[in-house]
Amino acid sequence: MGTYSNTAVWVDGLVVIGGFTVLFYFLKFSWKCWWGLRVYVLSEYWKTDLRTYGQWAVVTGATSGIGKAYANELAKRGLDIVLVSRSEEKLKATALDIERQYGRQTCVIQADFTEGHAIYPIIAEKLQNLDIGILVNNVGMTYSPGLAYYMDIPNPGMRITEIINCNILSVAQMTRLVLPHMVERSKGLIINISSEAGSEPQPMLTLYSATKIFVTYFSRGLNAEYSPKGVTVQCVAPFLVSTNMTNNRTINAFVKSAQDFAYEALNTVGHSTFTSGCLSHALQHIALCIFFPGWLRLSSSCVRKTEKFARRAQQKIGRTGKKEN
Ligand SMILES: NC(=O)c1ccc[n+]([C@@H]2O[C@H](COP(=O)([O-])OP(=O)(O)OC[C@H]3O[C@@H](n4cnc5c(N)ncnc54)[C@H](OP(=O)(O)O)[C@@H]3O)[C@@H](O)[C@H]2O)c1
Repeated sequence: MGTYSNTAVWVDGLVVIGGFTVLFYFLKFSWKCWWGLRVYVLSEYWKTDLRTYGQWAVVTGATSGIGKAYANELAKRGLDIVLVSRSEEKLKATALDIERQYGRQTCVIQADFTEGHAIYPIIAEKLQNLDIGILVNNVGMTYSPGLAYYMDIPNPGMRITEIINCNILSVAQMTRLVLPHMVERSKGLIINISSEAGSEPQPMLTLYSATKIFVTYFSRGLNAEYSPKGVTVQCVAPFLVSTNMTNNRTINAFVKSAQDFAYEALNTVGHSTFTSGCLSHALQHIALCIFFPGWLRLSSSCVRKTEKFARRAQQKIGRTGKKEN
């Protein structure tokens, strides 16, 4: 009898623990579903008024792809735009487009972010006296061709420094330039474009992926430091967006157009400080975490497969290039 009741107590205990575990995971799952719904679906109807941050938005790498799309969308939502990029000609054309289409003021700053610290005093001078409410640290580059072993990066001695200057230094330095003004007014928004490639180490994209985890950690730490002072720092980690960087891939359910991406990502402001930017990319992120975890990506068989894939992709690009010539 004594043995039986001891067993019963154990069973009752396990049932209670099991019940709490199921309840915990059910509540966690429900919370995540609600959070996802709010950030990626309802945010379309609950948009934050971005003009409340200030008059001007600064966008780096603003003449094509995601940066240009952010610049256009921000102008559409009522902000004046400072465009910072490499090519003077493209800057002028993009600025004129924005002025004509949305009737906003623009200011262009020609700067090459691969050049390192020397460019920032010039940028600082041009930003002086502007009421900057938003900074989009978008500029970024990878190696060409897309995937490569670290030592196969073309001209590695120079390219490595250029990538670090462009993807890391630009984020830290541009932030330093705008943050004091934002803190002074107790309002501001800094959007840093990271990448899904920064969520786990990515062999054959090693340097790029490492620069992007810098952007993610920098954003999240900075947000914790400065959100109590009124400045929000949002980290956006997209999957594939059809731009020059991705050889303008065909747009489909997985690959977003830059315009759609910027629209959806800007809707998430005020709802999330760490986001994939859009529903499709958020779902791909979840699927990848489940079916293609970090340890698998780092396995030697996976690296070999990536190498084969890179070779095939390169041959395809070579063939297309030849046909076009
Ligand atoms: N596309 C994707 O699938 C994807 C996915 C995840 C994350 N991202 C990130 O999103 C950001 C934008 O990527 P994107 O695909 O839009 O790239 P993109 O189409 O290649 O556009 C890059 C922009 O940055 C400018 N730029 C490039 N190098 C520069 C430099 N050294 N100095 C100044 N400006 C420079 C370019 O100006 P010019 O035209 O004058 O060269 C262009 O306006 C990057 O940080 C990238 O890592 C992209």
